[in-house]
Amino acid sequence: MSSVVENPLSVVVLAAGQGTRMKSSLPKVLHTIAGKPLLEHVIKDAQALGATTVHVVYGHGGEQVRQALSAYELNWVPQTEQLGTGHAVQQALPDIPDNHLVLLLYGDVPLITVNTLRGLLAAADGDALALLTAELDDPAGYGRIVRDASNRVQAIVEQKDANAKQLTIHEINTGMLAAKAGQLKKWIGQLDNNNAQNEYYLTDIVGFAVADGVAVNTSKPMERCEIEGVNNKYQLAQLERAFQLRQARQLMEHGLTLRDPARFDLRGELVIGRDVEIDINVLLEGRVELANGVVIGPNTVLKNVSIGSHTRVHANSVLEESTVGAHCDIGPFARLRPQTNLANNVKVGNFVEIKKSDIAEGSKVNHLSYVGDTTMGMNVNVGAGTITCNYDGANKHRTIIGDDVFIGSDTQLVAPVTIASGATIGAGSTITRNAEAAALTLSRTRQMTVDGWQRPKKKS
Ligand code: UD1
Ligand code: CA
Repeated sequence: MSSVVENPLSVVVLAAGQGTRMKSSLPKVLHTIAGKPLLEHVIKDAQALGATTVHVVYGHGGEQVRQALSAYELNWVPQTEQLGTGHAVQQALPDIPDNHLVLLLYGDVPLITVNTLRGLLAAADGDALALLTAELDDPAGYGRIVRDASNRVQAIVEQKDANAKQLTIHEINTGMLAAKAGQLKKWIGQLDNNNAQNEYYLTDIVGFAVADGVAVNTSKPMERCEIEGVNNKYQLAQLERAFQLRQARQLMEHGLTLRDPARFDLRGELVIGRDVEIDINVLLEGRVELANGVVIGPNTVLKNVSIGSHTRVHANSVLEESTVGAHCDIGPFARLRPQTNLANNVKVGNFVEIKKSDIAEGSKVNHLSYVGDTTMGMNVNVGAGTITCNYDGANKHRTIIGDDVFIGSDTQLVAPVTIASGATIGAGSTITRNAEAAALTLSRTRQMTVDGWQRPKKKS
């Protein structure tokens, strides 16, 4: 009888580094890629792998780091003094039962993928020590993988401790590895710091595993960027771009038309229908839903919005915490602020700001207007330069506009005020009282002409 009993997985994430080269008061692992802390990317991978527990070894800026990730259930392990990677892992081991498989990740190596890690875990099968290694054209700075004549891994030698021959090795240690907790405890207990950096090198466990007759297996990442760490702002930007290109490629495989994947930024989640098009320099944040046939113009920002089918958002528009129906036309230069809900076939034109308002089907606000705290009916036409005066300096008030209302240009609607269905408001009016249904209301001084009036002349 044979049954494969999978060992529970414990993930250890090293995150105690100070990140001096970031030149920032923010702890390194809290700098973001796609709007999410570096450390959070790694934690999400650990969760996706089904880790029983995720242990985070923290040091510098500990409280801040813990707070930023308080939404996650994590075992926080302090490392007060940074005596090396071996010492760091040692801090977490007492919390991990011997039969657990331990996967070691790094809080500043955010682009590692679940697929690559599955390969690494598979390489640890049968009590082996599994190392994630890579072949690099320029291996400078990394620990080198030393193999014997039969290609078996013998040791990892750090750059600073390597001899001339070892320095020519191109296979490097990414630092990520997997092994049984019981074995790790034994090997880590054997570490010393007699080396060029006087650190407890985790990498020395490879020699101990070989001495114990334990197989040391290696696996490789799919992409180079997966193993890259962040040490400075330039590397942060490079990995941001790599991550964005990865997201862009996945979305394009699902049918999204991106005019230029190099000028696309998604900091959150994008849900798309068929035949969605996104032009250049678009920033999407939070959760964005774009239904079939939606077209997003260039230089547009969408944050937590849902947009119905065949709606077009033209260039330079900013939409936030809003829902937009189908077949709407928004922008260019439109701004939808939080709690705006547009029904189908609504038009919002250039230099129009809408806040906390519901606009029913077929209504149009085409030019230079502010609509705030408003409930607007169907087929309303709001003339250019119309403003809802929703704020009296202390409180906000609502404007109610019925169906089929026509509001002449340059009108101020002083809230609270109701414009009943079918009403017409004459251009240039300041409306302070409710307007009656199906009637013309206007407040405007009568036009007059002064006969024989002379323009003043300049005195000589
Ligand atoms: C380490 C590896 C090296 C590998 C390289 C990949 C060792 C001895 N060397 O070298 O073989 O090629 O990573 O980048 O492991 N950390 C702690 N506490 C500590 C020390 C480190 O949390 O006491 C964390 C750091 O924050 C960092 C990571 O561990 O995220 C790696 O530490 P670092 O000192 O940069 O190791 P390397 O010298 O790069
Ligand atoms: Ca390093």
